[in-house]
Amino acid sequence: MALIIDGKKISQDIKEELKEKVAAYQSEEIQITLAVIQVGEDPASSVYVGNKKKACEYIGIRSLAYELPEKTTEEELLNLVKELNERTDVNGILVQLPLPAHIDEDLVIQTISPEKDVDGFHPQSVGALSIGQKGFLSCTPAGIIQLLKRSGIEIDGKECVIIGRSNIVGKPMALLLLRENGTVTVCHSRTKNLKEVAKRADILVVAIGKRKFINKEYIKEGAVVIDVGMHRDENNKLCGDVDFLDVVDHVSAITPVPGGVGPMTIAMLMNNCVESIQLRKDF
Ligand code: GUN
Repeated sequence: MALIIDGKKISQDIKEELKEKVAAYQSEEIQITLAVIQVGEDPASSVYVGNKKKACEYIGIRSLAYELPEKTTEEELLNLVKELNERTDVNGILVQLPLPAHIDEDLVIQTISPEKDVDGFHPQSVGALSIGQKGFLSCTPAGIIQLLKRSGIEIDGKECVIIGRSNIVGKPMALLLLRENGTVTVCHSRTKNLKEVAKRADILVVAIGKRKFINKEYIKEGAVVIDVGMHRDENNKLCGDVDFLDVVDHVSAITPVPGGVGPMTIAMLMNNCVESIQLRKDF
């Protein structure tokens, strides 16, 4: 029987641990504050932002919500980010993506102070990760490392194959698995013989954005499969990039969708907010 990795339970455990840390900071009169900026009213973004605010409230982090109209100019947004950079009572700044097309996302991310970049998207955070220095970690890949570790799955010396090379998941995932001494291969749309390469994996991380694309032909028997995808299937039920029912009896462990990787992203964002206090001391 495959282990179904319970991301809901693991994320809850992390949130409980963070709640205790926040309470300890509060007893020293240290309040952690996250500024959350949303531009426009994209319904999916509104759900994500709502969940982030709820998680803050649960853990004891103060959240400041900035809900800006779709027509906000790039300059106005950059000015708000700069103002929040300067505020000593704000520890983390999160600008929900995607932004409207008239705003340069890269420029906005670069404007966030690396000390407050709790998403881990700033080039300095990414660069620090790539050379093993301190900085914020991108939340989804950091959450995947936690899922593996807290499920007792060893990474050291394992063949790790990642399908997908995005800046948010694939690339930082590769660096984090490398840091844990995995042997890492990154596949993408131009990879030849994808099935053969994926089949080498002891740990297969799938982040390709194609619903139920990966079946057991891509997976070595007994591999661990991490599914980062999130889609609606033909019956409008949530599903991932992996065809769960096809592979579940073939793998040793797998994350379900929903309830696998998803809940971990917010838990790790909360972790970054708590770490922002420590990082500030260390910078
Ligand atoms: N949009 C989708 N996922 C994310 C995320 O993790 N952070 C931000 N800022 N925007 C997102």
